[in-house]
Amino acid sequence: MLIRVLGSAAGGGFPQWNCHCPNCSAVRAGKPGFTARTQSSLAVSANGRDWALLNASPDLRQQIAAAPTLSGAENGALRGSPIKAAVLTNGDVDHVAGLLNLREMERLTVYAARRVLDTLAANSLFNVLAPGIVDRAELPLRSSIALSGAGVDLGLTVEAFPVPGKVALYLEDAAAGPDFGTREGDTLALEVRDTSTGAKFFYIPGCASLNDDVRARISGASLVFFDGTLYDDDEMIRLGLMPKTGARMGHMSMSGPAGTVAAFEPLGVARKVFVHINNSNPVLNEQSAERRAVENAGWEIGYDGMELSL
Ligand code: MLT
Ligand code: MN
Ligand code: ZN
Repeated sequence: MLIRVLGSAAGGGFPQWNCHCPNCSAVRAGKPGFTARTQSSLAVSANGRDWALLNASPDLRQQIAAAPTLSGAENGALRGSPIKAAVLTNGDVDHVAGLLNLREMERLTVYAARRVLDTLAANSLFNVLAPGIVDRAELPLRSSIALSGAGVDLGLTVEAFPVPGKVALYLEDAAAGPDFGTREGDTLALEVRDTSTGAKFFYIPGCASLNDDVRARISGASLVFFDGTLYDDDEMIRLGLMPKTGARMGHMSMSGPAGTVAAFEPLGVARKVFVHINNSNPVLNEQSAERRAVENAGWEIGYDGMELSL
């Protein structure tokens, strides 16, 4: 099974269009130790020919162009794509807006939770993925389904399971109390398995905390891609960028006694890769103490174009 990190940044990318924080300014200036990143997405393939996207970011067009394997012609046909499916983990703009790039009458299947499918259906802009050409399939929770699209069986199964998180920003209901009307299934983790080899990994780009269920599922895993949005829960406030904590946005942070690095310590995960990294995160500076700290704890900082095989 081949996995490619298409985009390793959180919503906004790195640099973010309107951000002049120290990190964004440094990467814009081409300062050594800073690498630009596009928004949150992976691609996976069992056979190296047919691919599923895991989330579809607004930068998808650029991500496809940067990955020859995703832009190749099929059997000499004038039109065609190796991308047969897109599996969405939530309804956030950084994970769904890229679907609009897949609109040129190409057959594929979009897999998502019911509420995300309903949200797409309620927005007529997404009808450019013409029903009848682009299939929609509901992801069942806690049971695995085989991925297919355009009549091709991808040789992959996905089990989606809910993780603590928050409903998409644009669906927040302030009147609904402290969880803003979040429902089960609004934030999903994916366990992706190669049907023929049995190899599997977890993709969890958004997660507010590690509950017992998540811990039990990922314990001993060979590979986990995990929410690397912030280093410190209050870093956006401290930098004067935004009045929100990571917790308020539905993300656990890397540092601290309840942070991701500490929470993973007892889990025995062989390979741990941070993705969905916000532009404010100090680990994006390769020379930083924070970068050294997470790498010393056995974490890898995902980067655009990173390829892994399992
Ligand atoms: C998030 O991951 O918190 C969201 O992508 C934020 C956003 O929608 O801008
Ligand atoms: Mn996001
Ligand atoms: Zn910034």
